[in-house]
Amino acid sequence: MAFRRKKISVIGAGQVGATCALMLASRGVGDVALLDINQGAAKGKALDILQTAAVQLFDSQVTGTADYADTADSHVVVITAGSPRRPGLTRDDLLTINARVVASCCREIKKFSPEAVVIVVTNPLDAMCFVAQRELGFQRERVLGMAGILDSARFRTFVALELGVSVRDVQALVMGGHGDSMVPMPRRCFVGGVPLTELLAPERVEVLVERARGGGDEIVKLLETGSAFYAPAASVVQMVEAILRDQRRVLPCAAMLHGEFGVNGLFIGVPCVLGGRGLEKVCEMELDAAERAAFEHSVSRVRALVDDLARLGL
Ligand code: APR
Repeated sequence: MAFRRKKISVIGAGQVGATCALMLASRGVGDVALLDINQGAAKGKALDILQTAAVQLFDSQVTGTADYADTADSHVVVITAGSPRRPGLTRDDLLTINARVVASCCREIKKFSPEAVVIVVTNPLDAMCFVAQRELGFQRERVLGMAGILDSARFRTFVALELGVSVRDVQALVMGGHGDSMVPMPRRCFVGGVPLTELLAPERVEVLVERARGGGDEIVKLLETGSAFYAPAASVVQMVEAILRDQRRVLPCAAMLHGEFGVNGLFIGVPCVLGGRGLEKVCEMELDAAERAAFEHSVSRVRALVDDLARLGL
């Protein structure tokens, strides 16, 4: 059988979606269909990205569309459609708008790409994963949320800046929900194999933890007109690559838990093995008392969001 490039559809051609499309194409991860309700934006950005191939030298095809038929038989679908956080938009407003958008996208994805692995990016992430899973009805291996890689990337960046070392050598794990209740785990952060807790005083570590927790807000305040998109897109690309190249990377992702870490039926950020089937495995481990308390608090916040979906009839 002739070799064909894998197909990735990115739903939402806004800041995150278009950046994902650019990074996926330029890394040659696969052919990209970029879909938006705003057809002009999808087609225009896709064409612009495709024209970078002549200079950056890649073979991936990039097409823009407003028609889900063009996304048919995707191997991976990334959902970035929705509204970003904006001043004046309440949490409930955002939850309502984005739950409706994600549900409508998933109905089409289910129809056109029933075998796809779906990666949700739209916020509030953990609740949007829940909505996606409900609409798709796929087994849990094929519905994942992107948050932990981004949150860990932020923490790793602040550690590297603080210590004046290469971020490549900083390993970190952030678990829990995506939001200010996330759980960075300093005890599990290593700098070239040396525990962070042996390199920095606890007060400094706490400053970095807090900055990571507020990492999204810090950028929203600076941008004033939207939220972060370069690092979110790069984090999505790492997940897509791990799946399509069957890399079996161990990465923190939002996954539907079936009893792991004592949680059932919620999407929570946990260390996952990502490979050709999507979620290959959730890596369980013992949490100490402080980690457990922070994790459970974060889980309760995610549960409250899912309860809000029901309260709002979503
Ligand atoms: N179907 C397809 N596309 C849609 C739909 C829909 N039903 N509703 C909105 N969109 C598109 C918009 O037209 C817009 O182009 O989604 C895109 C969103 O892009 P931006 O407003 O630029 O938002 P972005 O910064 O990309 O963030 C998208 O990712 O990180 C999260 O919190 C962020 O939830 C937000 C999402």
